[in-house]
Amino acid sequence: MLNGLEDVIAAETVLSDIDGQAGRLIIRGRSLDELVARSRYEDVIALLWAELIADCPDAAALAAGLGTARVRVFEHVHALDGPLLDLPAFDAVLSLLTRLEDGDGLTAALNLVAAPAVFTPAVIRRQRGLEPLAPEPLLSHAADVLRMLHGTAPAAAQVSALDRYLVTASDHGLNASTFTARVIASTHAGLAAAVIGACCALKGPLHGGAPGPVLEMLDAIGSTERARAYLEAALSRGERLMGFGHRVYRVRDPRADAIKAALQLLTAAGQVAVDRLRLAEAVEDAALELLAYRKPGRPLQTNLEFYTALLLEALGFPVGAFTCVFAASRVGGWIAHAREQVLRGRLIRPQSHYVGPPVSA
Ligand code: ACO
Repeated sequence: MLNGLEDVIAAETVLSDIDGQAGRLIIRGRSLDELVARSRYEDVIALLWAELIADCPDAAALAAGLGTARVRVFEHVHALDGPLLDLPAFDAVLSLLTRLEDGDGLTAALNLVAAPAVFTPAVIRRQRGLEPLAPEPLLSHAADVLRMLHGTAPAAAQVSALDRYLVTASDHGLNASTFTARVIASTHAGLAAAVIGACCALKGPLHGGAPGPVLEMLDAIGSTERARAYLEAALSRGERLMGFGHRVYRVRDPRADAIKAALQLLTAAGQVAVDRLRLAEAVEDAALELLAYRKPGRPLQTNLEFYTALLLEALGFPVGAFTCVFAASRVGGWIAHAREQVLRGRLIRPQSHYVGPPVSA
């Protein structure tokens, strides 16, 4: 019995393809390397949504529409009251998402991409006792997110690093949150319902909740010479090492290298302390060695989340908001998958195998 549905093909998609043996990711016919080197997040959204969202414009017009959508959704920020601000950042952002009007068209889709990008900096600022900053629609999506977070114009290296993250995490086959989005969309519930459900699936530490614990692990280790003993003790307690392992990849997750390269750009621009990167590299080396020794039958490699933790920290996001930034990226993929399911799929309704007691007399 495959209780994690491994190897089950549950959808046909034109959106992304993962080669878990070769460590390759293709997003709509483009390699991850090509996309990361040449595209902004807005470009990737236009690529993912083409022919799936009615009247989807080209990348330039989509970027303009996304800027307008950021301004539109900002009106919901006023609903951030005391009880919402006491919640973890992810839950506060999720609550604001429920205020958006549902729909299947371009406006609903743009609002849903704009929402986590606008709500995340607003929640962070309010939790720090600062006023949220209104979007500037003419800025690029990544530049505006960083400006709304910090209140100053971000450096080019910071914008590029965030864009690389947003592009890298935008779509990734039938992961748990994307599958959730497709199941909800298959009932014709609408894009907002699909995105909200997908967010809930993303939250857990086995999926999008991992980078926070990665950073906590690095902080607890503190120095390179303590790495091996710390990790060995964690594994002996039966704990999983966050940022390692993947259901599909049997080799290194190519997204880990894309994010590490973005981090190196930030390091070169003086935005990340070299010591911090060295600590992460030492922890990674020790973890890979220990995992290979302890789980010889199961290749466990670095995944997307390991270097993401350092990247988001360097960009000034608090650890409690890391999963919000993940949602701000993956939302573009969720929407594309939800539309693909509606247009080319059917209601998803698998069966279960009953193993309970027989009917009593
Ligand atoms: N640390 C230690 N052991 C691990 C890890 C890990 N990170 N990952 C898997 N294992 C072990 C399991 O304990 C299990 O061992 P066993 O067979 O002796 O019981 C074996 O490897 C297989 O584990 P499964 O749970 O079957 O693997 P699955 O494919 O379900 O797990 C997952 C994938 C959830 C990502 C897992 O590797 C994990 O928990 N990693 C840590 C959390 C993490 O990094 N999450 C982010 C994932 S990437 C993303 O969502 C963007």
